Amino acid sequence: MGTMNLKMLLESKELERCPFPIPVGWFHVDFSENLKVGEIRNVQLFGQEWVLFRTESGKPGMSDPYCPHLGAHMGHGGKVCGEHLRCPFHHWEYDTSGWCKSIPYAKVMPPVVKKQAILRTLPMVEKYGMLWAWYHPQCEPPGFELPYIPEIEDATGYAGARRGSWTANTCIQEIAENGVDTAHLKFLHGAPGIPPVDASYDGPIMKLDIGKGYIVGTAYGPGLNVMRFNQHGITATMISYSVPISLEKTQMNMSFRHVDYAEGTPELHASKKVIDHMIGAAEGEESAGFESVDFVVWNNKKYRPNPLLCDGDGPVLQFRKWFKQFYPGQEDSTKI
Ligand code: FES
Ligand SMILES: [Fe+2]
Repeated sequence: MGTMNLKMLLESKELERCPFPIPVGWFHVDFSENLKVGEIRNVQLFGQEWVLFRTESGKPGMSDPYCPHLGAHMGHGGKVCGEHLRCPFHHWEYDTSGWCKSIPYAKVMPPVVKKQAILRTLPMVEKYGMLWAWYHPQCEPPGFELPYIPEIEDATGYAGARRGSWTANTCIQEIAENGVDTAHLKFLHGAPGIPPVDASYDGPIMKLDIGKGYIVGTAYGPGLNVMRFNQHGITATMISYSVPISLEKTQMNMSFRHVDYAEGTPELHASKKVIDHMIGAAEGEESAGFESVDFVVWNNKKYRPNPLLCDGDGPVLQFRKWFKQFYPGQEDSTKI
């Protein structure tokens, strides 16, 4: 009989499900078409509420709800006035960068107002027909740019309107870790084998090659992943853009695109089949897409900061080391 390792046997009681803050990155907020000029509404993202609005010239804005004056919630009764968000309480106005631009009854503007933004806003861009916000816990400016993705940015040449949205009851890191966990592809998804994985890391970018060119993917921070599936002589692309709703809830979003092959061609048929396979909807397929199986694991697991790994596992620890950069100020945390 071996000796008992009580620390190991009792460890799971102490574990947390999601011991992480909201990570830094560009995150999908909504599709551009869902935010009209002059519109204002409240959204729950990054563990808090935000006021999302679009100015008269079409610029998107996303601000902390609570007015720096006396704390009114600007998403309840506030208005878009020209290029500004106007608080309902005393009509102070803010631009999309959080600068106070008007106090209608002040003879002299408070000096601080002329020097700096006083309302927290998130930098936003519109790309791929979507609204993107840059989240940083200490309000630092964007550290990288969103990439050019021909599959959704070229006006012609690509097709595919399929997209999906799912909510997982876990944090974004746990979902992202699936990408390097190649062993689960065989055992959870029923893939014929464990594909080899080649990962490389460069600042906020991680590149993955799974199965020697079968899946070639690039992650741009925690909020954007472009995976190209090469099979049957075609390439089908999955663009994945997850966003943290709270510390333990993530909205997973995906768009599926392929080359705009002519109707009735074997290439079009193959492209659609590969996309069906990605979401586990292909008929007669013994492998299971993430929808049916990954969620069961994600929604119930705990995070093990010191996992017991074996030689057949993918580069889980390297992935975690890379992901740590998105938690600034947490470098010395032993939990992560
Ligand atoms: S609380 Fe917003 S203007 Fe006074
Ligand atoms: Fe999976």
